[in-house]
Amino acid sequence: MTRHLPLLPLRDIVVFPQRIVPLFVGREKSVAALEAAMAANKELFLVAQLDPGEDDPGRDDLYDLGVVATAMQLLKLPDGTVRVLVEGAKRARLVNLEPRDGFVAAEIEEIEEEEESAGGPEAQALMRSVIEQFENYAKLNKRLPPETGIQLAEIDNPSLLADAVASNLSIKVADKQALLGELNPARRLEMVFAFMEGELGVLQVEKKIRSRVKRQMEKTQREYYLNEQLKAIQRELGNEGEEGGDELQELAQKIRKTKLSKEARTRADAELKKLRAMAPMSAEATVARNYLDVLLSLPWGKKSKLKKDIAEAQAVLDEDHFALEKVKERIVEYLAVQARTNKLKGPILCLVGPPGVGKTSLGRSIARATGREFVRQSLGGVRDEAEIRGHRRTYIGSLPGKIISNLKKAGASNPLFLLDEIDKLGQDFRGDPSSALLEVLDPEQNSRFQDHYLELDYDLSDVMFVTTANSLDMPQPLLDRMEIIRLEGYTEDEKVEIAKRHLIPKQMEAHGLKEDELVFTDQALKAIIRHYTREAGVRTLERELAKVARKSLRQILEGKAETIELTAENLNEFLGVRKYRYGIGEEEDQIGAVTGLAWTEVGGELLTIEAVTVPGKGQIKTTGKLGEVMQESIQAAMSFVKARAPAYGVKPSIFARKDIHVHLPEGAVPKDGPSAGVGMVTAMISTLTGIPVRRDVAMTGEVTLRGRVLPIGGLKEKLLAALRGGITTVLIPSENEKDVAELPETVKQGIEIVPVSHVDEVLARALAEPVSPIEWSDADEHAVEPVIPAAPSDGETAIRH
Ligand SMILES: Nc1ncnc2c1ncn2[C@@H]1O[C@H](COP(=O)(O)OP(=O)(O)OP(=O)(O)O)[C@@H](O)[C@H]1O
Ligand SMILES: [Mg+2]
Repeated sequence: MTRHLPLLPLRDIVVFPQRIVPLFVGREKSVAALEAAMAANKELFLVAQLDPGEDDPGRDDLYDLGVVATAMQLLKLPDGTVRVLVEGAKRARLVNLEPRDGFVAAEIEEIEEEEESAGGPEAQALMRSVIEQFENYAKLNKRLPPETGIQLAEIDNPSLLADAVASNLSIKVADKQALLGELNPARRLEMVFAFMEGELGVLQVEKKIRSRVKRQMEKTQREYYLNEQLKAIQRELGNEGEEGGDELQELAQKIRKTKLSKEARTRADAELKKLRAMAPMSAEATVARNYLDVLLSLPWGKKSKLKKDIAEAQAVLDEDHFALEKVKERIVEYLAVQARTNKLKGPILCLVGPPGVGKTSLGRSIARATGREFVRQSLGGVRDEAEIRGHRRTYIGSLPGKIISNLKKAGASNPLFLLDEIDKLGQDFRGDPSSALLEVLDPEQNSRFQDHYLELDYDLSDVMFVTTANSLDMPQPLLDRMEIIRLEGYTEDEKVEIAKRHLIPKQMEAHGLKEDELVFTDQALKAIIRHYTREAGVRTLERELAKVARKSLRQILEGKAETIELTAENLNEFLGVRKYRYGIGEEEDQIGAVTGLAWTEVGGELLTIEAVTVPGKGQIKTTGKLGEVMQESIQAAMSFVKARAPAYGVKPSIFARKDIHVHLPEGAVPKDGPSAGVGMVTAMISTLTGIPVRRDVAMTGEVTLRGRVLPIGGLKEKLLAALRGGITTVLIPSENEKDVAELPETVKQGIEIVPVSHVDEVLARALAEPVSPIEWSDADEHAVEPVIPAAPSDGETAIRH
């Protein structure tokens, strides 16, 4: 049975039975259909269009299945369209269309649904799952009002539930139409369940994307906002234009112009690109900018023109430094090889010697002689590897290491790099700086030097490294890389010459004195050297000369004098009382006081050895901060003395009543080594016999238990010290005689050098009177400690000092 109802074609919506839906109606025919319905029993036929764009759909443009609905409320809007609330009633099939007066009537046939009992357990289970699923779906789908789920839960008819859910799903019209066409409620429920399942998946992904997008948006917006604020602040502060464009362009230009290595260029470009993307005042940008500054200020490819004239180099060295012939000779040889081979692959020069002998200033001179820039890095107290090699850029405020920053200072990639005081390198938990230096100093490796800050290879192979040290006390691998050149200290005459040629003119100039305003006599200079300095080098001398220059200048400016001549007599007006006595020979000979000779890092020195007897039991007591070796050498000396006592006129019974105390003055200075052995023996015998020791005789040498004198080291320094101290005679081990040949003439002329091979010879020379041996009977033997038997002579060995 069919009937006719006004037709309302729907563009993009499917209305289900029992659903109330608001519709906007605009098409003339539709409005007329609505009016016709309102005039009759308010019933309408609603059916979806196949093509939503069709304005005047014919039969073929409409789906077959629609729904009979009641118009509940009608609202005419001012623009002629109508808002209507319709409630679906029943499914119906469209049979035909018939045009009426102004609208179209649809001939329809109502459809009965298949029966489904709501009570069955299967239907119940299905309904429950659909409701549950719908709740999940409603949570994700923001377009559904939250109470929809609750309303649905109240529906207990499977068919109605399926329709209710179907009308709330956001699915295609065709899909909804399929749901409308399914007349079996259970199957329809299954279908909506399946649709929801699919939708849920999509919704979940959608949600994820949405939140991600939102977060990104927030971040970019925030950054944009902050940057804008920053710009506004800068504008307020008046730095507008300083930052940004100009500077980056300048950097780009600099990168283009600098002769960077390929690796460095890639790095610089990348860094600039990053910098462009950063906010100009951010911490990161500062880091990137600093890095580029350092990178671009390195002397890439910039070289000084080197001088290759060897004669000229020798002349420069001679001009800057008096004496040091051997040293200069060695340096010039080294330069000659360099000039010929154009390479620096030789070992690194290491100038070793006491303070103030001109090591540092020689380094400067070599730079001048070869036309290299000069950079000096003191390594004293450097304990952190990072100081040599730099910090990684991840640390705030990190900097390149000393090598790289000094190269920057030098402004050329082939400077002379003086690593001063290399023996003073420290070492602690922060790493070992000497191991970083190993790489720097190895000509095979240093073409690819890696600084932690730069993170690039930098070529150091054109740098000429020279090192200085006071002693050779440094790690073996470092020593291995260097060629040691020794500077031993100056004789008095050399010092006078150095003062006249270099130190005095330098100080006069520094104090603005004219040439004839201050004159030193040779006697005055000698007196300064003897009485105001005691050193291997000339640093104190230079300081004293500066003092004289200062005081003279004052006198001249005050008008007290026009020119000043410094003599041995008026010296104390300028320098105060004498600080040192020259020549121990001036002193009286004393019992138990011997002049020994010591060798230290700071040059040779005179060393007094004192011995006295005190009540006791033949023990030995030592004081004066003595090292282990020295302690043992005193023990050995004591045993020798006890063993040979009668031969030197000492009654062995004295050891039952007396101890001997040996002391080395300047008790705070640590002393060690075996070379004071002969001195110890002499001091002991002197105090035991009461015969004074000649103060103008100095001695050095290790002594064995049987009185043989063994050779020692540092002879030249020791003799220089003796000369400084005004000693006239020095007793040296005869095995050291070969070293005498290398000594400067002044030393040989100034001192009588006496080689000795046995203590007896020492005593004969050093004691003011000869010893007189005594007879000692066996009956007295009980009072003596056991005498040590003589060992076979070839069993005697000693480690040289
Ligand atoms: N042979 C010399 N001719 C001219 N001047 C010299 C000579 N030896 C040293 N001098 C001068 O003595 C001063 C000290 O020298 P320098 O600073 O080079 O000593 P150093 O050996 O490096 O000592 P340190 O081990 O304490 O560093 C400098 O002013 C230097 O010019
Ligand atoms: Mg120095």
